[in-house]
Amino acid sequence: MTDLELLARADAIAERAYAPYSTFLVGVAVLARDGVVIEGVNVENGAYPLGVCAEKNAISTAITQGYRPGEFEAIAINASPCGGCRQWLAEMGFERVTFRNRGEVVTMTVAELLPESFELAD
Ligand code: THU
Repeated sequence: MTDLELLARADAIAERAYAPYSTFLVGVAVLARDGVVIEGVNVENGAYPLGVCAEKNAISTAITQGYRPGEFEAIAINASPCGGCRQWLAEMGFERVTFRNRGEVVTMTVAELLPESFELAD
């Protein structure tokens, strides 16, 4: 699957987002190394800070299915990932991150999105 095909999956799933407060519908598609695609959307809440980003939902679903960090090839998002989600992307070790930002489609590494990233180990 190409990065643009993965982005098309993210675009399509975004319509299932539950985002009545921001009306900002985010969709994510994760490509695991075995070829399986796992999707996620943002889910908001009337207590605003409790909302969850689409990236976290997609990654949490993948982890629940048994995937582990290092078993992911790429992720596509129909928006630029927020700072906190960049940390989640770093934890999972994605090779490529494709997203739409200001009308342009870009593909970047996690190191480009989150330079000098935090790690627990020395
Ligand atoms: N959002 C995501 O789902 N992922 C991001 O990386 C950026 C922000 C969601 C959170 C909230 O539901 C809405 O977009 C507006 O911030």
